[in-house]
Amino acid sequence: MHVYFVRTNRIHIKDMANESKRNTSFTSKIGLIMAAAGSAVGLGNIWKFPYIAGENGGGAFLIVYLICVALFGLPLLMTEFFIGKRSGKSAFGAFRELSGNGRWQWLSWLCMLTAMLIMGFYFIVTGWCFNYLFEAFRNTFDGLGTEALAEHFAAVASNTPRMIGFSVLPVVLTAAVLWFDVNAGIERLSKILMPLLLLMMLLMAGRVLMLDGSNVGMRFFFQTDFSKITPRVIMEAMGQCFFSLSIGMGALITYGSYMPKNQNITATSIQVITLDTLVAVLAGVIIFPAVFAFGFDPAEGPQLVFVVLPAILEQMSFSWFSSVLFFTLLCIAALTSTISLMEVMVAFICEASAAVRKPKSGHPGRPLNRHQSVLLTSAMTIVLIVLCVLSMTGKTEWLTIMGHNLFDCFDEITSCVMMPLGALGMSVFVGWCLPNETLKGPARGTRRTKRWFGKIYLAVLRWVVPVAIMIIFLNSLGII
Ligand code: PFF
Repeated sequence: MHVYFVRTNRIHIKDMANESKRNTSFTSKIGLIMAAAGSAVGLGNIWKFPYIAGENGGGAFLIVYLICVALFGLPLLMTEFFIGKRSGKSAFGAFRELSGNGRWQWLSWLCMLTAMLIMGFYFIVTGWCFNYLFEAFRNTFDGLGTEALAEHFAAVASNTPRMIGFSVLPVVLTAAVLWFDVNAGIERLSKILMPLLLLMMLLMAGRVLMLDGSNVGMRFFFQTDFSKITPRVIMEAMGQCFFSLSIGMGALITYGSYMPKNQNITATSIQVITLDTLVAVLAGVIIFPAVFAFGFDPAEGPQLVFVVLPAILEQMSFSWFSSVLFFTLLCIAALTSTISLMEVMVAFICEASAAVRKPKSGHPGRPLNRHQSVLLTSAMTIVLIVLCVLSMTGKTEWLTIMGHNLFDCFDEITSCVMMPLGALGMSVFVGWCLPNETLKGPARGTRRTKRWFGKIYLAVLRWVVPVAIMIIFLNSLGII
C-alpha cells in the first residue's frame, strides 16, 4: 500500500510495500547526502566547470547554469531519488517494479550502458589526476613554463603503460570501497572525504584570493554581461548541469534505493544540489583569480587544470604544498564519483543475475553476490580503459569511430545523447506513465496551502523538462 502526502512544502513518500526490500542501505540521512553529493561533485565541477565557464563568458555562464540547476536539476534529482526509494531497486529493476510491466526495461539498459561508457573515459581523467598528484609529490613541475607543461601533458596522455597503470589504480581503489556493504564502504568514506574536500577547497580559495590582482578574476566570474548569454551558452549550461549532478544514468536511482525510509526526498535533493553548486562555484573562485593574477587566458579549454594550473601553482609561494593540495583534492572528488558510477553497475549486475532463469526448469539461477559483482564490474571496466587508452595513444587504428578515438566518442555520446535521453525517459516515465494513483501522489496535498510545490514539480517534470531536453538533444545532434 502506498500513501503519498505533501506536508510543509515537502513531498513525503511513505512506501510500506518496499520498506524492507534492501538488505543493505545507508544508515543515516547525512550518509546518503554525503554519498550523493560525492557522486555529483567530481571532475565535472573542478575540471570541466571552470573551463566551460571560461570559454562561455564567466559570469554569463554562471547565471544561466544556476537557473538550469534550479529549473531542471532539482526536479530530475528528485525524480531519480523517487524512482529508487519507491521501488527499492537499482536501475535494473526499478522501472519494472513501478510500472508493473517490462515496457520500460530499455531505460534500465540505457542507464547501465551510459554508466559503463562514462567509466571508460572518467577513469582515464581520474588517472591523469593521480599521475599529476604523484608528480606534484616529486616536484616534477618545478621550473616548467606553460609550453613545457603542455608538452608534458601530451607526453603523459600518450604513454600507454603509464596511462593504463594510473587509470587502473582508481578502479582498484573504488572496487575496494565497493567490496564492503553500502553503509560500511560508501557511506563511511563519503562522510570523511566530502567534508575534507570542502575544507581543502576553502583553504585553496583563501590562498588564491590573497594574490595581487585576484579581483579581476572575481569580476570575470561574478559580473554578468547579459549580452554574452547566447543559445550556445544555454545549451552548454544545461549539458553541464546534467553531467555535474550525475543525472540520467541511474546513479541516484541506485542511491535512492538505499535511502533510509524516513528521509525526505525534496530536502535531500536541495542539500545535494547546494553542495554540488557550492563546489563548482568554489572551483571558479580558485581558478579564475589565479588565471588572471598570472596573466593567463581563462578560455584555455580542457587543459586549464592540467597545464595552466600547475604553472600557476609553481609561481605561488609554498608551491609544493599548493600543488599537492590541489591534486589531492581533484583525486578525492574524482573517487567519490567513480564510486557511484561503479555502484550502478554492481547493483545492476546483482539484480540482473537474480532475475536470470534457468532455461529448462524456469527456476531462478544462482544470483551473483556483491563481491562477484564488484570483481566482474572491475574486470569489464579495466577492459574498457585499456581499449580507450589504446585508441587514444594511437596504438590501434581499428579502435576509432569516424576518425575519433574512443575516449572522445564515449565522452561525446554520453553527455550529448545518452544522459539527456535517460533524463527524458525518466521524466516521461514518472510524469506521464506511472499509474494515476502514484503519479498524482506528489501533487496531492493534505494542506491546501502546501499543494503548490507538488503541482509545480509535476508541471515542470511533465512539460518544462522534456521540452528543454528535446531542445538540447536536437541541438547536440545538429538538427536545430
Ligand atoms: N557528476 C560527476 C562529476 O561532476 O564529475 C560525473 C558523474 C558521476 C556523472 C557519476 C555520472 C555519474 F553517475
